[in-house]
Order: sequence, then structure tokens, then C-alpha cells
Amino acid sequence: MSLRIDILTLFPGMFAPLKESIIKRAGEKGIVDINVINIRDFAFNKHRMVDDLVYGGGAGMVMKPEPIYEAVQHIKSSAAKAMPPRIIITSPQGEIFSQKKAWELSKEEHLIFICGHYEGIDDRVRVLFQGEELSIGDFVLTGGELPSMVIVDAVVRLLPGVLGDEVSAEEESFSDGLLEYPHYTRPAEFQGLKVPDVLLSGNHEEIRIWRRKQSLLKTWKNRPDLWKNAPLSQEDIKLMAEHKKTVRENYRLFTALVHYPVYNKKREVINTSFTNLDLHDIARASTTYGVEKYFLVQPIKAQHELIHTLINHWVKGYGARYNPDRKHALTKSALADSVEEVKAKISEEYGAAPKVISTAAKAYPQGVGYGELRDIMERKGGNYLLLFGTGWGLEQSLIENSDFILKPVYGPGEYNHLSVRSAASIILDRLQGE
Ligand SMILES: C[S@@+](CC[C@H](N)C(=O)[O-])C[C@H]1O[C@@H](n2cnc3c(N)ncnc32)[C@H](O)[C@@H]1O
Repeated sequence: MSLRIDILTLFPGMFAPLKESIIKRAGEKGIVDINVINIRDFAFNKHRMVDDLVYGGGAGMVMKPEPIYEAVQHIKSSAAKAMPPRIIITSPQGEIFSQKKAWELSKEEHLIFICGHYEGIDDRVRVLFQGEELSIGDFVLTGGELPSMVIVDAVVRLLPGVLGDEVSAEEESFSDGLLEYPHYTRPAEFQGLKVPDVLLSGNHEEIRIWRRKQSLLKTWKNRPDLWKNAPLSQEDIKLMAEHKKTVRENYRLFTALVHYPVYNKKREVINTSFTNLDLHDIARASTTYGVEKYFLVQPIKAQHELIHTLINHWVKGYGARYNPDRKHALTKSALADSVEEVKAKISEEYGAAPKVISTAAKAYPQGVGYGELRDIMERKGGNYLLLFGTGWGLEQSLIENSDFILKPVYGPGEYNHLSVRSAASIILDRLQGE
């Protein structure tokens, strides 16, 4: 059974690409029958107009319904197909086209594409023919010609007999919810770059596993939207866990407890005092969750002395001998006058400025989830600085100037007054926990 495709357009000259390569051969084999039809040929009004001004005012022209209606009716009356045609309107307002949709359309007998132009098509065409709006992505093109060719290409290559054995549509990107693994061909070394040894090994099982891992990693790295719904087998989960062990090395997480600028109960900007509990508890939580360094942000010089004395007691003094675990945790803590100073220290010591992550008990529209942020850190690597606020929370400018704002920690009820130490532990567990 051959698939009939009619494309309605004002620019029939734009379809040369469908007369090349695989699509051309599919036509020659009678697997598909593609007709490009000029909508202008169905403009029976006095001036053969195909577009007109927009009702309701506004810039641009809209394609008139009558010529399109006549053209579709003409095709319908001439099509000797058992199944009624499926009418596709290419539009940036449509459902995003996908491989899944391509497979679906490849099962049809007759497709009619209506290519819009200018401001688009009079919406009554869609209503009259229950047209399906399809978009090829979140961008706006000058016309529907390229989108219709993209969709036709993706559909026709899936028709039985179109793809030779040079490519298999069953095993490619999106076929199992993942992106395909990278490919290599001769020479085995090019510009100093070698083909991965496993591909030269002839060991089919190891090649299969390598390819599967590459597909998993590529999808995880490049397409978090696909990754979210990817059907993972036990083997996939094991392969990813092995990889994730290594990615932790890709990024560093730092924590900072901010004593200034923060708010008091009346939302006045204040400088809070340092507490020993905050020092110990957040230092221990930070160390438990693999944080590189824990900074205490405190501009009051007098408090510096107190903090240094306490840290030295546990790092160098009696405390260090009495409790080596505490020494370990406090060795990773440091003092700074401001968040800016912390960022500068991290750039200097760890080679790159950190992305700043703010925390707050209040939700912000641009708030990021824990899984999402964790994914970003693992995928993108780099340095990340997690800010916790004492008092009634971080001052607004710190939050606005941060790269990410984490969603608040919520309990089941209304009550939401966690101590900063508890919040820090919960947040670190969500970001770094197993
Ligand atoms: C300039 S666009 C009209 C855009 C329309 N005013 C809007 O904002 O949604 C003209 C025509 O190009 C086609 N087109 C533009 N971008 C597209 C996309 N991303 N996917 C599918 N078709 C697109 C449609 O056929 C559309 O009617």
C-alpha cells in the first residue's frame, strides 16, 4: 500500500529536497506518492487573492480560508483511498512533532499538509477539517513549507522498503526513549583521535554494553526532558550508577552560612551573631555529604576572633585529640567577611567561580527542584556554592543575584520554621544523599 501525501502551499518551488535521495527513490519504488499543490490555483475570487488583512487589526496578512477549502475538497474528491485523509496544519502553535508521531503518521494512507505563511491561516480551516496542528519546534519560520518537508522526510523513511539495510529505523535515536550512541568509521585514528578500543575488539557483548552506556549518558546529559521518561532496565540503572560515582568528581559543592545581610522578624536587614551549634552541626552535615568547604560569612571582626578560637580548639587544640571526627569536619570550615569574598576564595583555590544557589523558606517562581539541580551539577560539573541564611533568611539581593534558588523544604502541614541547621541537613541530603 503506498502512502499518498498532498502538500498545499503558496510556494510550490520550495520542494526540490523531496526530489532527492531516499525520498525520491521511495517515490520511484511507488511506496509514496507526493503531490505539491499550489493553493493559488484554487483562488477563484476576482483578484485571485490568497491572503487578506487581519480581523481585529494588527500587522501582517492572513491566508484566506476559501482557496484552501477548495483545494482540500478537490483533493478529497479525487483521492481513491479507503481511509479519509489526515489533515496536518504546520504551525508553531501545534503539538511538537516527534519520532512517535512520525511512526503514527507512517501508518496512514493519505496525508494532506497545509503550509501557512505570513501571520498564518484563517483558523476556520482547522475547524472545518479538524486539522491537526504540528510544530517542528519552539521557533517561528517564515512558512510551513520547511516544516512539512521535515515531517514528510521523517514519515517516509519509516515506510517499509524505504530504508535499505544501510540504516535501521528500529535502532536509532528515540526508538527506545534514548538518543543513539556515537558512530565511528575508518580510519581507526584521525587527527590524533582514536576510535574507542572496545569497538575494534570484536567482543559483541562489550560493544553492546558500551553502546548502551553511551546512549544512556548522551540522553542524560543532553536531554533531561527525555531522560525523565526513559524506560530504564536494571542493567541501565547499574550502568548509570557506575557512571554517577565518577560524575561526583565533576563538580564541587561548597556551603556558606550567612550572618550578613539577613533579615530579622521585622524584615529589617541585620547582622546576626555566630553560634557554636551552627558551626558544628553544619560542618558535620557538610562533611557527611561530601561538601568541599563550609564557609561562615561574618563581617563583624570581634566575632572572627571567637570563631577562630573555637575552630582552632577542635582543629589544633585539645578538641582535635579528644574528637578526631570533629577535627575532620571543622578542618573543612573557613571564615569570610562576605559572600563575594567566599566566591573569590573559591575561584582562586578551585579554579572557577562558583554558581551560587540560594535557599529560602519562601517559594520563588524561578525556584529549582532538588533532583533538577542535582542533575545540572552532575551533568555540567563545576563549582557550586549553597547559601544558608541565619535570622529570618537571606537578604533579597543575595537571592536575586544567585544563579539558582532552591525550592523550600516543605512538611505536610502549614508549619514551616526549620532551624537553619535542620534545613541544611535536609537540603544536603536531597542534593547529595544516596
Ligand atoms: C510566520 S509563521 C506564523 C506564526 C504565527 N503568527 C504565530 O505566531 O504563531 C507562518 C507560518 O509558518 C509556519 N511555521 C512557522 N514556524 C513553524 C514551526 N515552528 N513549526 C511548524 N510550522 C511553522 C506555519 O505554517 C505558519 O503558519
